[in-house]
Amino acid sequence: MENTEKKKKILSCIQPTGTPTLGNYLGALKNWKALEDDFDAAYAVADLHAITVRQEPQQFRKQIIEAYALLLSIGLSPEKSIVFVQSHVPTHAQLAWILNCYTQFGEMSRMTQFKDKSRSHADNINVGLFSYPVLMAADILLYQADFVPVGADQKQHLEIARDIASRFNGMYGNVFTIPEPYIPKAGARIMSLQDPAKKMSKSDENTKSFISMLDKPETIMKKMRSAVTDSEASVRFDEELKPGVSNLMNIYSCCTGLDHEQIEKDFAGKGYGDFKTAVGEAVVEELRPIRENFEMYMKDQAMLKEMMTKGADIATRISQRTLDKTMKKIGYVLK
Ligand code: TYM
Repeated sequence: MENTEKKKKILSCIQPTGTPTLGNYLGALKNWKALEDDFDAAYAVADLHAITVRQEPQQFRKQIIEAYALLLSIGLSPEKSIVFVQSHVPTHAQLAWILNCYTQFGEMSRMTQFKDKSRSHADNINVGLFSYPVLMAADILLYQADFVPVGADQKQHLEIARDIASRFNGMYGNVFTIPEPYIPKAGARIMSLQDPAKKMSKSDENTKSFISMLDKPETIMKKMRSAVTDSEASVRFDEELKPGVSNLMNIYSCCTGLDHEQIEKDFAGKGYGDFKTAVGEAVVEELRPIRENFEMYMKDQAMLKEMMTKGADIATRISQRTLDKTMKKIGYVLK
């Protein structure tokens, strides 16, 4: 019997600001792939968000193409999901402007990412950085997303998207679906390998602190071996007292599907050397097919361009419906 039940919708994006890390993968991208069969999914390279910090043009162009190729490399299928580049779809900037006028200065000022980034880019605290979450709300609301698969660091941005949507609906009737975050249990917050109090981030100056999704097996093993642990020498999950080991356990759990209890059992009486080797090998195996696919996709730039165009055309068509509906409600005269 044909399944006529309507699928729920999901949307998520990633910034093309350098090769994504194992954190991006386990916190978000791995789920994107896992969800594409059961949901109507739209996934984008958020290149409009990326210019809230300065980008070198040539490098930026390369990173956008690489980010797109990487999304295909994790196994996303353009037949099942819409995979596109944000700047190719004009409705995002259009709805963002409108939503800016329905968002309060006070609520944006409370965003922790804005506060953090204003500190780390003190010479360029631009208005785009401030209204970044509004553009993100536009991304989500345009596709009427029910769920947004992200890591825990995006939770606050999701809350503001919900607030903006509810406020708008309260004024004009049901225009937007109220989105919910979809945050994985184990991979929601992968921490730095060198300082487990900080999240793993591709912008970290210490390259040993993160594993990039395209790192070679030797590099992964080396970084894993130098990961900070503790002096207890027992593989036990305790995020407060043993943050380094617990982080490695989370990584191992995401890659193998084993739960913490099982991992503790398997490594009882063994030292950190053995454990780090096992985690490293699991990560190598998880990332190997992605790196191989990536090399293949990057060899055919014409095909990538074609897929980008197709994705953008579909995304434009779908998102235009929401934009038109929104503009009509406000009182605009549609052409
Ligand atoms: P971005 O590009 O920083 O990260 C992409 C995704 O990776 C997740 N992530 C992590 N998860 C676990 N552990 C980590 N250490 C880690 N680091 C990053 C992020 O939570 C994210 O899901 N603002 C977004 C991009 C964006 C977006 C959107 C997301 C733009 N529009 C609309 C969802 C919906 C960002 O900068 O993600």
